[in-house]
Amino acid sequence: MADSTVMIRVAFVGKGGAGKSTIAGTFARLLARGGEPVLALDSDPMPGMPYSLGVAVDDCPIPDDVVVPGPEGGPRWVLRPELDAAAMIERYAATCPDGVRYLQFGNLWGHVVRLQQAQHAWSQVVSELDRDRWHVVGDLPGGTRQAMFGWAKYADTVCLVVEPTVKSLHTAKRLFGVTGARWGPSRLVLVVNKARSDSDVDRVCERLELPAAAAVAYDEAASRGDRRGAAPLDEAPDGPLARSVEGLVAHVQSLYSSI
Ligand SMILES: Nc1ncnc2c1ncn2[C@@H]1O[C@H](COP(=O)(O)OP(=O)(O)O)[C@@H](O)[C@H]1O
Ligand SMILES: [Mg+2]
Repeated sequence: MADSTVMIRVAFVGKGGAGKSTIAGTFARLLARGGEPVLALDSDPMPGMPYSLGVAVDDCPIPDDVVVPGPEGGPRWVLRPELDAAAMIERYAATCPDGVRYLQFGNLWGHVVRLQQAQHAWSQVVSELDRDRWHVVGDLPGGTRQAMFGWAKYADTVCLVVEPTVKSLHTAKRLFGVTGARWGPSRLVLVVNKARSDSDVDRVCERLELPAAAAVAYDEAASRGDRRGAAPLDEAPDGPLARSVEGLVAHVQSLYSSI
């Protein structure tokens, strides 16, 4: 890897069902084909990335016992002394097609202590990630909550995924308010997904007053693959979804080359 490579740190947000996981997983794989290391971070308690990454496991949460009680006056839980972010990735991140490594949030079910343990482990890993080691592609849960509470702090670019439906637009409008304040318009990238016509794309752009960095067409083959658990890149490697996400990768890369 060239010393001058600036590592991408992008998080995908949007309404549930808009296509965040589909696009984020495809993005991660296409980015990894450039030969540099890519870490896919799934902080959705209902993980969706494995399907689009094409990884065989669909549930590989970080175990609860990676944390121990924190020091007096410090965080409630901290990673075991022998574990840091790099060790967590080495140990718990699945290896996916195209070499993407995939790390999934811990279990969010069970009682409140387990929930806190999972959250502390995750936030420590995410805040201690080595900036120069990985391109990071994050998939957030639907809605505004996690974006608001800082779960995407690692990201310096946010992809807002919007379907041309009234509901998806409504969520996007709110997310735009939340994320726009933090990342600014130059690092807030609009992706219109499941577009069936140019007017679908225009409507979303007009409503959000943002240009579309990528317009991803509704892809019948990708949708068919989804019904039998195949990743878009495996089911339809040259389909509209794959081609548009390729364009999105190039767009996001161009944001970094001008730093
Ligand atoms: N461009 C597309 N064309 C066809 N189907 C799509 C497209 N993008 C996403 N989908 C389908 O939409 C559904 C929701 O996508 P998903 O990525 O799980 O959404 P999210 O992560 O935002 O909740 C899935 O069934 C997926 O296969
Ligand atoms: Mg999802």
